[in-house]
Amino acid sequence: MSASHKPLVFSGMQPTGNIHLGNYLGAIKNWIPMQKEKPCIFCVVDMHSLTVWVEPKELRDNTRMIAAAYIAGGIDPKLSAIFPQSAVPAHAELAWIFSCVARIGWLNRMTQFKEKAGKNREAMSVGLYAYPVLMAADILAYKGTHVPVGDDQKQHVELARDIAQKFNNDFAVPDFFPLPEPMIMGPAARVMSLRDGKAKMSKSDPSDYSRINLLDDNDTLVQKIKKARTDPEPLPHALEGLDERPEASNLIGIYAALADISKAQALSRFGGQQFSTFKNDLAELLVEKIGPIRDEMKRLMSDTANIDRLLMEGTERAEAIANPILKQVKEIVGFVAR
Ligand code: AMP
Ligand code: TRP
Repeated sequence: MSASHKPLVFSGMQPTGNIHLGNYLGAIKNWIPMQKEKPCIFCVVDMHSLTVWVEPKELRDNTRMIAAAYIAGGIDPKLSAIFPQSAVPAHAELAWIFSCVARIGWLNRMTQFKEKAGKNREAMSVGLYAYPVLMAADILAYKGTHVPVGDDQKQHVELARDIAQKFNNDFAVPDFFPLPEPMIMGPAARVMSLRDGKAKMSKSDPSDYSRINLLDDNDTLVQKIKKARTDPEPLPHALEGLDERPEASNLIGIYAALADISKAQALSRFGGQQFSTFKNDLAELLVEKIGPIRDEMKRLMSDTANIDRLLMEGTERAEAIANPILKQVKEIVGFVAR
């Protein structure tokens, strides 16, 4: 990234399905300290959620739920802009221009599309295929420089860099767009399913016991940890002992992330213990850390007018940044000015 670009953090989350511990530990929790360092924009990417079928009411409710999770999780709407993607038309407009910059070959390499489409490619929406182009527009509409995401999104951020670079080259505007950097962080950058340590904890897993939802009540949190899959060995004393033990590694990773310590530190505390004792401590920590977030989310969600007002304030702040950039882009590509 060139020094001429002011740092700006951009990230987003889809308002689809159950927001879970992976979203919190892999995303929201890492965003909190950034607010004090750089201007931050945290978007609820409702247009991305349309790429697969979603009931309209569910989309609207979930948009408010994600906004509530951002705020309850520690994003301060006074410091950071929080808003729905669809409320700022610059995202869609820039996405079209970028879809003419990006190459089909680049999109064909995107592993997430291949995974989501499986053998059913022909029946997928065009939007699902073009999804990373919209994501590039999200980031670059603000000249975002830093993009905190889970490692599953790294490839998409790299595509955004390629699009930025090609735009700058094609239109001979060197350095117009920054080349955004993915920021992958935290000991639990990837939280795995409680039922299968090799699968990612996911909003769409049909088994609710595979995931810790941020809205789970305390009893459910405890039950889910109790029932979480493990192996018969006691916990190891050192990190190497977690190799080939995905479930143990995941639970230790979750503990470490919640307690703000490293996995090695967690093992020095629990090495040699049976899972049953460790699970009690993990469940207790989960209730202590997630309980208050859940309660605050519920409080925020019960006042729709307030959430909508916060989202509209965020929208205005976002537009104040994105609209002048979009105006320049339109001039650069040769659109007649309005
Ligand atoms: P998604 O749930 O796919 O909309 O993802 C929203 C954000 O949470 C993105 O930054 C993801 O990388 C992150 N994320 C999703 N699932 C996980 C997980 N199991 N572990 C860590 N981060 C995750
Ligand atoms: N695709 C991201 C996900 O599913 C969400 C997202 C959309 C995003 N636009 C973004 C993340 C821009 C970071 C920056 O997790």
